[in-house]
Amino acid sequence: MTTPILALNNAALTLAGNAGPVSILRGITLNVQRGESLGLIGPSGSGKSSLLMVMGGLERASSGTVHALGHDMTAMDEDQLARFRRDHMGVVFQSFHLIPTMTALENVALPLELGGVQDAFTRAQAELETVGLGTRMDHYPSQLSGGEQQRVALARAAAPRPAILLADEPTGNLDGKNGAAIMDLLFGLRDRHDATLIMVTHAPELAQRCSRIIRLKDGKIDTEAEAEKGAA
Ligand SMILES: Nc1ncnc2c1ncn2[C@@H]1O[C@H](COP(=O)(O)OP(=O)(O)O)[C@@H](O)[C@H]1O
Ligand SMILES: [Mg+2]
Repeated sequence: MTTPILALNNAALTLAGNAGPVSILRGITLNVQRGESLGLIGPSGSGKSSLLMVMGGLERASSGTVHALGHDMTAMDEDQLARFRRDHMGVVFQSFHLIPTMTALENVALPLELGGVQDAFTRAQAELETVGLGTRMDHYPSQLSGGEQQRVALARAAAPRPAILLADEPTGNLDGKNGAAIMDLLFGLRDRHDATLIMVTHAPELAQRCSRIIRLKDGKIDTEAEAEKGAA
């Protein structure tokens, strides 16, 4: 039996709200195998983003355990977790999250430099060429369209060659044409880097591209909707 790349065991997330603690994730148990692509679907507020954050080590589970690549993220201190994320996780958000004062090239090179990559700028350049932005590398985010900004964010997430790529509604702010292009790039990067992809989407037709679909409802897994796949 191979170790799952991600293993959640009864993972829960409770956050402090104004009227007391709010239960956001309520006992998620889930194994993801290397090379799988997992689509997370479910209504707004069902906990998709929260689950993605817990899987990516960006949010700490309140109870239960979360193992990634065989390591228990719930047992790491902040520094260990930050380093682990930097080395193994690539994250793409709906709203791009680029640093506005840095060029496209600098945005992609920064995490590589922080990770001690020697040829950070050369590699960043190559990643930007891969996403079709070879001629836009010196542009700032404000000088780029939404689709272009998301390409930069994809290049940034993929450049360190993370084992796990996490994307939270990566096409949510894009029109259909740009969204489709981003999806193609995302799955292309996954294939090229042999990464495991976890993607939140509220569009079932986008989730269909994943090898497996999980539906959330009220902070729990509703149905493991493998059967929903097929038509696309
Ligand atoms: N920081 C927070 N504090 C309190 N409640 C939160 C916080 N973040 C999210 N929530 C609540 O947790 C639930 C799940 O949110 P989220 O994971 O963003 O859902 P989804 O991505 O499926 O729309 C929602 O009810 C939301 O209001
Ligand atoms: Mg969300």
